[in-house]
Amino acid sequence: MGQKGREIVKMNVDELINNLNKALADEWLAYYQYWIGAKIIKGPMKDAVIAELTLHATEELTHAEQLSTRIIQLNGVPVLSPEDWFKLSNCGYEKPIDPYVEEILNQNIKAEQCAIRTYSEMLDITKEGDPVTYNMVLQILSQEVEHEEDLSALKEDIELMLARGR
Ligand SMILES: [Fe+2]
Ligand SMILES: [Fe+2]
Repeated sequence: MGQKGREIVKMNVDELINNLNKALADEWLAYYQYWIGAKIIKGPMKDAVIAELTLHATEELTHAEQLSTRIIQLNGVPVLSPEDWFKLSNCGYEKPIDPYVEEILNQNIKAEQCAIRTYSEMLDITKEGDPVTYNMVLQILSQEVEHEEDLSALKEDIELMLARGR
């Protein structure tokens, strides 16, 4: 990392890199959870939900990209093996055993809520010490908030449709 770029980081860099790697592990698991969900999902309004899940998957991948870029800027090493994703992850992974659309949505809503919690904690940690990471985390957090909102809106639509159909 450039000298000036390093000078403006006024916090424990190892701890920061560790937090970024934990978030990176979360993003890969979130990516796969969306990706596989979009493949196996069944039930009402499936096509609309698949479109949203697929879009979210690509956005989680972009977050992974941003996090790994920042880790490298800080002279860290992005998590090298998928084996470590589970060890590092804050939010874990929920196997979509039940492919029904509402179950898939519930699992992903839960994951987004965890992501929102995790990134808001990272904002608190970086606010004083690292403006560059803070700015990146703020961008990611805004997108996770959108994700939760999108999924909740779909869930509400499905519930309304099913209630009317009765
Ligand atoms: Fe994400
Ligand atoms: Fe997300």
